[in-house]
Amino acid sequence: MNYCENGTITDFYILGFSHLKTKQILLSVGIMIMFSLTIVGNLIITLVIGLVPKLHTPMYFFLCNLSVVDVIYVSSSLPKLLFITITQDNRISFAGCIFQLYFFTFSIACDVLVLTSMAGDRYVAICKPLQYTSIMNRRVCASLSALCWTVSAVNSLLMTLLISVLDFCMSREIIYFLCDVKTMIALSSSDTRSREIIMKIEDLVFAFVPFSLTISSYVQIISTILKIRSSETRLKAFSSCTSHLTTVILFYGPVLILYMKPESEYSKEQDNLISLLYVAVVPMLNPFVYSLRNKDVLDAVRNVISRNIVST
Ligand SMILES: *[C@@H]1O[C@H](CO)[C@@H](O)[C@H](O)[C@H]1NC(C)=O
Repeated sequence: MNYCENGTITDFYILGFSHLKTKQILLSVGIMIMFSLTIVGNLIITLVIGLVPKLHTPMYFFLCNLSVVDVIYVSSSLPKLLFITITQDNRISFAGCIFQLYFFTFSIACDVLVLTSMAGDRYVAICKPLQYTSIMNRRVCASLSALCWTVSAVNSLLMTLLISVLDFCMSREIIYFLCDVKTMIALSSSDTRSREIIMKIEDLVFAFVPFSLTISSYVQIISTILKIRSSETRLKAFSSCTSHLTTVILFYGPVLILYMKPESEYSKEQDNLISLLYVAVVPMLNPFVYSLRNKDVLDAVRNVISRNIVST
């Protein structure tokens, strides 16, 4: 109780999955597999898109951005959790926590903004096909992606500074499995009213607005597609959106489920598991969503591999 009086900053304790006593090995193995698949899958996507000129289109450039962000996302969250489940040493230093907070907040925000940019790209491609190349030109895409990265980085810096000046005198036990903004604000013993207002603004800027933009893009896309006469063209137009649409559903779906589920004391642990699936599974699936369904990417991978085999 008197950590704060003597002014020392002590460690935090991450309790996220400590209730799963007998399942720690299973959990470690699961996390390790998901982590490795995410890193490898996303690096392959980045490499393939970089190497194959045919994939140098706005959609694939944004996908490349998404892959890089996903690598940062899992790297900021999973290695520490893996260490905890393996060693059962659940301490995290204040600096470690702040570090994790920065990169985790950054990558979630950047993920959202890049996904929203991709929705914009799909909107222009389907609803304004004739102007597509002039609207989504290189400069626009580069500025859009620079904007995503900058806004996320600045926002995350502000959030991190905000959290780092809070007092944590009451408890140092983190009920979640990583240090994120909501958990830290809930844990803090400082007056958090103004911080809760800031959280509301965050939700508005990084959840409500991007979500609404994405939904309205898709409403227009679908109504445009339905007006297409030829069923072949219709199918072609729709299939150019399915990968992105799948990612959007995977990304927002779990959040909506968590959000709409009634609060209950007992479901904290269950919530943690759903959140873990979210943190670990969604970034892992992205490369598969984009490659398995997509002939361009599969052909490109095949070409890169066969070219390398021929040249060696
Ligand atoms: C992100 O996207 C922009 C514009 O589409 C592209 O120019 C840039 O190379 C991409 N960066 C990464 C790291 O994927």
